[in-house]
Amino acid sequence: MNMEFRDLKRQYQILKNEIDNAVYQVIYEGNYIHGRQVAELEKKLAKYVGAKYCISCANGTDALQIALMAWGIGKDDVVLVPDFTFFSSGEVVSAVGAEPCFVDVNPVTYNIDSDALINAIAKLLNEAKRPKAIIAVDLFGQPAEHGRIREIADEYGLFVLEDGAQGFGGAIGDKMACSFGDISTTSFFPAKPLGCYGDGGAIFTDNGEWAELMRSYCVHGKGESKYDNVRIGMNSRLDTIQAVVLLAKLPHFIGWEMKQMQTVAGWYSEQLKDIVMIPKIKDGFTSSWAQFTIQVANIEARDRIVARLMEEGIPSAIYYQKPMHRQMAFSGTSFDERDYLISLRLSETVLSLPFHPYLNEEEVTKVSEIIRKAL
Ligand SMILES: Cc1ncc(COP(=O)(O)O)c(C=O)c1O
Repeated sequence: MNMEFRDLKRQYQILKNEIDNAVYQVIYEGNYIHGRQVAELEKKLAKYVGAKYCISCANGTDALQIALMAWGIGKDDVVLVPDFTFFSSGEVVSAVGAEPCFVDVNPVTYNIDSDALINAIAKLLNEAKRPKAIIAVDLFGQPAEHGRIREIADEYGLFVLEDGAQGFGGAIGDKMACSFGDISTTSFFPAKPLGCYGDGGAIFTDNGEWAELMRSYCVHGKGESKYDNVRIGMNSRLDTIQAVVLLAKLPHFIGWEMKQMQTVAGWYSEQLKDIVMIPKIKDGFTSSWAQFTIQVANIEARDRIVARLMEEGIPSAIYYQKPMHRQMAFSGTSFDERDYLISLRLSETVLSLPFHPYLNEEEVTKVSEIIRKAL
C-alpha cells in the first residue's frame, strides 16, 4: 500500500476544475499580487472566523512576527510560549529581539498548561523580568484552553496571541479558532487544515488600529502607498494565485472536509483506543485535526511502530522530536529541565499518523492493524 501522510492529490482531483479555472483567470487577468481575489478571501476568512479584520500575509511565521511588531514587543520583553510546538512559535519572539520563556504543556491536550503558565509568570516577575504576551498554540488542531488563558492574561496584563497555524477550523462551542487572541494567526502551508499551493498566512483581530499597522508592516511599512514608507516593515503578501486556491477550497473545507475529518478521527479512535493513548478533545471543543497524534508507552514502542508502518509503505511523523528549550537556537538561555517533564516525555512518545478527510475506513483499519501488531 502506498499512502500519503496528507493526501492533497486526492483533494485536487475533486476540486480540479474549480482550482484550474481560478488559477487560469489570475494568469489571464495578470493580477498576480494583491488582486481583487485577495480582498475577497480576507473578507470571507474574517466572516468565517468571526473577527472584524483579516490581513493575509506570506506565511504563518510572518503572521506571528507581525503581531508582535504591532504590539511593539522587543528588547527586554518576555513572551510565554509552549515548550511543545513548531519552532516558529518561539522563533518569532527572538526575531523581534524579545526573550521566549518556554512553558510546559498539558499531558492530555498537549497545549500550554495553565498551572505551568501561572508558575512561569510568577517566576519571571520574581526575577524582575517583563512578561508582555502569551502565545497560545492550538496544537494538532485542538484549541488551547483560551478561556483560562484569557483570565490569566487579564490578571497579569498580558496580550494573547493565538497561534492558530494548526487550529484554523477548530472551535470552542460556537466560537471559532483564530478569534481567541487579541491577535490570532494562521498558516496556509499546503499540509495545514486549510492549505494553499505554496506558502500563505493570515492575521485576525478586532482592533482597527492594530489591523492598519499590521497591513502596513506587511507591505514595507507603507503609509499612503507602497512608495510612501513610514516605518520599517517587511514584504509579506499572499499572492493572488494562492488566494484563489484558498477561495476554491474554503467552502469545501468548511462543509464536507471538517465533517469528514471528525468521522476519520472517530474510526482511528475506535480502532486504537485500547492499545495507545488516542487524542482527547475536551468537551465542547472541536479539533480541526491538523494531526492525529497518538501516544505510546516509550520510544522503543514508537520506533517499532514507525518501522512496521514504513515496511508497509505508510508514512508517519514525529511532531515534535525536540522540545523548544532543547533547540540549539535557544542555547543562549539556560533552562531547567525539571520545568519541562511533560514536553520531554511527549517528545519520546508521540506519533502522528496519516490523516486527512479523504482517508477511507479500510486504510484506517490497515494502519491500526499494523500498529496493533507492532505493539
Ligand atoms: C504551530 C505553528 N506555528 C507556526 C507555523 C508557521 O507557519 P508557516 O509554515 O506558514 O510559516 C506552523 C507551521 O508549520 C505551526 O505548526
